[in-house]
Amino acid sequence: MESHVITRSVNERYARAVTTGEEMCCPTGYNYEELRAFIPDPVLKVSYGCGTPIGLTTVQPGETVLDIGSGGGIDCFEASRRVGASGQVIGLDMTDEMLALAQAHAPTVASNLGYAQSNVEFRKGQAEAMPVEDATADLIVSNCVINLSPDKDTVFREMFRVLRPGGRFSISDIVTDQPLPQYLIHDREKWGDCLSGALPFHQYWHGLRTAGFVNVHQVTLMPWRVIDGFHFLSVTLAGYKMTWTSPTAPQFATLKGPFSQVRDELGHTYQRGIPEPLDPRTAALLQMSHYAGLFLFSKTPTPLTRDDPRWVAVWPDEADCIWKGDFALLTGPLLEAQDDDGHTFSGDTLPVEICSKTRKVLDHALYAPYFGTFNRAGGHVPTEAETCQPSSGCC
Ligand SMILES: C[S@@+](CC[C@H](N)C(=O)[O-])C[C@H]1O[C@@H](n2cnc3c(N)ncnc32)[C@H](O)[C@@H]1O
Repeated sequence: MESHVITRSVNERYARAVTTGEEMCCPTGYNYEELRAFIPDPVLKVSYGCGTPIGLTTVQPGETVLDIGSGGGIDCFEASRRVGASGQVIGLDMTDEMLALAQAHAPTVASNLGYAQSNVEFRKGQAEAMPVEDATADLIVSNCVINLSPDKDTVFREMFRVLRPGGRFSISDIVTDQPLPQYLIHDREKWGDCLSGALPFHQYWHGLRTAGFVNVHQVTLMPWRVIDGFHFLSVTLAGYKMTWTSPTAPQFATLKGPFSQVRDELGHTYQRGIPEPLDPRTAALLQMSHYAGLFLFSKTPTPLTRDDPRWVAVWPDEADCIWKGDFALLTGPLLEAQDDDGHTFSGDTLPVEICSKTRKVLDHALYAPYFGTFNRAGGHVPTEAETCQPSSGCC
């Protein structure tokens, strides 16, 4: 299907949804009780997101927030509350009916929040060519929109352009576990349902990184639907447009664990226990969330050994491992990570099959923030499932 056909059918789908108020897409985690106190019901009724815009909880008063595919305006109005009267919110959408609904309720929300006038501006436009100045937004949010775009790489580049240096994004979207077949990609109805346009997770993640973002990592990842064996996952991702300045500049970093080896987004490899010298860019990167907890920073090289209490490991059980249909995805920000059973996970590949023992390791609180896991066996495996002996290295 050509891009303009996809765009037109998505446009018609959401124009229709405003009038029918039909239920669409996925479970979200809003606190409707709280939102109802200042957002009118017609807006809440057309909430078609696929995640809680958790990034909004990081908003500081006075910041500028851009919501790509703002729909009826639910996330813009919550952003409006959080940035305060001195902040600014831009809602961007291509569908006239959605924009009209959102605009109609902006004055009521402003008055409910006690603002002299609304700090939300709704603009008509395409996510692929945003009518937004360079380096405008402190935070970009987007809730179940980018999967609908026929040109996601252009959307990612546009996000990078309009974000201020030091800014961040928090986007919820639908991704898949593997490339979709042509018969699903060309199903016009399923584009509007946030299915046909969904990319495999690793491709989506790669697109964001190629656009220039760093520390691109999952905030949440949940299985949503399975169609003909293809798994659709609801994911919230965060990432940054770096300024590359390090607040304090440690000169060495030693990987503490739980991984035995990792590769960062600048391509440096670290082995647990071995101190590595840091250049200023790497020092800035490693001090960010999702990296900092893995490392020990020091002014002089500080090796760690297994008996050091700062050494971190999650050992697999000394037990049989059983294949139960579980698969795992490395969800960033690391490009590559190795566990203590010798498995290497890469962010640039399809999910890998894992046995029961590895599943237990990856579900551990120290590993879980870096992985998404899901099951392709539908909950049951034949009782004669092959088992491996402890320490046999087969799984
Ligand atoms: C699934 S709805 C989500 C709306 C809103 N984010 C929410 O959480 O309720 C998708 C919205 O994105 C808009 N949209 C889809 N593709 C777009 C694109 N390429 N450019 C701009 N808006 C787009 C649609 O018009 C629709 O309002």
